[in-house]
Amino acid sequence: MADADTKSAKNYQADVPAPNEPFFLKGSNNLDWGMKNRLANIFDPRSGRTVMLAFDHGYFLGPTSGLERIDLDIVPLIDHADTLMLTRGILRTSIPPTYTGGIVLRASGGPSILKELSDEEIALSIDEAMRLNAAAMAVQVFIGGENETKSVHNMTRLVDLGNRHGVATLAVTAVGKDMARDAQYMRLATRICAELGATYVKTYYVDEGFETVTASCPVPIVIAGGKKLPEPEALELAYNAVQQGAAGVDMGRNIFQSEHPSAMIQAVRKVVHEGFKPAEAYEFFRTLKSERSPG
Ligand code: R5P
Repeated sequence: MADADTKSAKNYQADVPAPNEPFFLKGSNNLDWGMKNRLANIFDPRSGRTVMLAFDHGYFLGPTSGLERIDLDIVPLIDHADTLMLTRGILRTSIPPTYTGGIVLRASGGPSILKELSDEEIALSIDEAMRLNAAAMAVQVFIGGENETKSVHNMTRLVDLGNRHGVATLAVTAVGKDMARDAQYMRLATRICAELGATYVKTYYVDEGFETVTASCPVPIVIAGGKKLPEPEALELAYNAVQQGAAGVDMGRNIFQSEHPSAMIQAVRKVVHEGFKPAEAYEFFRTLKSERSPG
């Protein structure tokens, strides 16, 4: 039977080389197939970028403003996100399993806002991450903080576990209140995370020299939105970050604390995936907003 099949097969197209394309994400070419497939569920391969909707804040803040009711505040937004960044508790209780975008699970925690925040431990097992179909595990790294070594060790343990199972690790650079939020610090923090194995890194945008942060980090960088800003400023922040080499945003408060969260996340998508200028994206936001609340 095998001989007969071999004889009838003729369409080898020997003159057509097999594709051997590099993977679309910076620094990710030498990862295994499963990890790449998960990354393609976080970052859109068409733009190479992501809009992550971050609403894991409750893991140390409890029900903060805009996140009082995940079912009412967040679920209506999820189809506009490439990826959700959240805790396993919220995923299981509140997110429909029909969601097919990327899942980035909060994997570190412990102290609440009432205590020293840098004193985190690993708070998720790799079995649980895989059971919940996580594309990545997110871990806080406190470079220069009181628990620097412990937080770096949390990250490297998750990298070891994640690499074994093809799950990405997102290192979240947590900047202490007393630290300068400048390019020099961001270069230090992001580079340490990448050197020690993070698959990608989340950091804050800085006005001066952000392009040196993205240039010196060999893996993709996404930016946190930070404190709530007026919508035009938040869109400008996203625009500047992607123009200066960020592979997208991991945005929370500037979306869910907006007066019109659905319009805002759609406007952020225009900036990240379609290169809209901030003014164009704000106009788009205003149009969506007026369609929802005419007059
Ligand atoms: C904070 O530690 C959380 O990990 C958030 O996911 C992160 O700060 C991004 O949210 P935001 O855009 O509100 O800063």
